[in-house]
Amino acid sequence: MSKSYFIETYGCQMNVADSELVSGLLTKAGYSETKDIHNADAIFVNTCAIREHAEEKVHSRLGYYHQIKKKNPKMIIGLLGCMAQNLKEDILESKPYVDIVLGPDSYRRLPEIIEKRNGNSTHIVDTKLSRFEVYDDMFPSRHLGINAWIPIMRGCDKFCTFCIVPFTRGRERSRSLEGIIDEIAQAVSDGFIEITLLGQNVNSYNHEGRGFHELLDAIANVVGVKRIRYTSPHPQDMTKDVLDVMGKHDNICNYVHLPLQAGNNKVLKRMNRTYTKEEFISLADQIRDKLPHVGISTDIIVGFPGENELEFQETLEVMDAIKFDSAYTFKYSSRPGTKAAEFEDHIAEPEKQDRLERVIKAQKEHTLQRNKSIVGRVEMVLVEKESKRSANQWVGRTDSNKWVIFDKENSHIRDFTPVRITEAKGISLHGKIVQLQGMEAA
Ligand code: 5AD
Ligand code: SF4
Repeated sequence: MSKSYFIETYGCQMNVADSELVSGLLTKAGYSETKDIHNADAIFVNTCAIREHAEEKVHSRLGYYHQIKKKNPKMIIGLLGCMAQNLKEDILESKPYVDIVLGPDSYRRLPEIIEKRNGNSTHIVDTKLSRFEVYDDMFPSRHLGINAWIPIMRGCDKFCTFCIVPFTRGRERSRSLEGIIDEIAQAVSDGFIEITLLGQNVNSYNHEGRGFHELLDAIANVVGVKRIRYTSPHPQDMTKDVLDVMGKHDNICNYVHLPLQAGNNKVLKRMNRTYTKEEFISLADQIRDKLPHVGISTDIIVGFPGENELEFQETLEVMDAIKFDSAYTFKYSSRPGTKAAEFEDHIAEPEKQDRLERVIKAQKEHTLQRNKSIVGRVEMVLVEKESKRSANQWVGRTDSNKWVIFDKENSHIRDFTPVRITEAKGISLHGKIVQLQGMEAA
């Protein structure tokens, strides 16, 4: 009987894609995936180190795996990804029951390492970062669904002072355009409808002189690709060429995630974000001019070291000026090893909490306002899943990345359906399927 593994993933979409890669490798090596953690021969956890909270969750999961291992001592526990990279031997010292610690550039070695560990060697740690590893020739094992995650580049050279990613994922490197196109053609023939390109700095893609806009253009021309998204871009690399290509192809979604982080120039400088608030606002305007009905989302960090109340209020002002469609909001979390962790003027927790609540409140209003502005329009919605509230309703996404709830009528999961937006409530949209005859889809 083949050996079984259980895998759990925390953190960003890149980790989801990496876990699919790991699954592909393990399947090839003769392992099969199980959903039953108690009877697995190996448990892997793919981890995130971006905020302290993410690490805490994994520490508590490791405690749980330990309990399971006590009943099944031969079971292997493997810690993968950014926390493995970040904490290395510390983990083995405090949690000796962890057998394997592998950083994000070492997955190729996993089958070999499991064999070694089964042969009773000591704990195995491999956290060497590579300048070249892009897993270009590997086939991830995807569960059939709507969206296929396609990593196009790895690592980050931007060194924002708050961020651990350049240390856990190493230097920027891009996959070959041909390798990416092949994988996408395969995903389309496997039945995936949406392609999401991934990278820590997805739009700094550059392979032998070919940039992100050239890649996007080539992907949009692959036969059968119905929807293309990408995440996360850096504002600095959001060029006119990229916007031109987005405007040119209907199958590239009208959606841009544009991380602001903070709205005050001094704070942005201390974060090493490379743009000013004025440049950022003008970029958002340019995106909206070029791509009508575009959805823009953002990331915001409150309570960066040294950020005073007035500086924080500028974040609220920029939010008010742009009115993002949605936002991921975070309290600054100190990450040992980063430059900002060494700044002396850290903000007290209650102040960070208060700022976070104000940012969330502002965003809720903006989301509602932006959503209300599309009430009455007909949007092409990709039907993705059943609503949690009612078995008679679907939930699907517009091209601009907004979730819409509507009665199923005769539509099915994976259909593109024209839906008239009838109501914006809270942060959700409600709609009704319409017949397209004589009516222009938006
Ligand atoms: N503290 C809080 N948020 C962070 N992010 C990255 N590092 C930190 C940190 N130390 C946020 C940024 C980034 C998103 C993925 O996570 O907003 O864009
Ligand atoms: Fe982190 Fe900045 Fe790189 Fe994004 S661009 S991964 S926030 S260092």
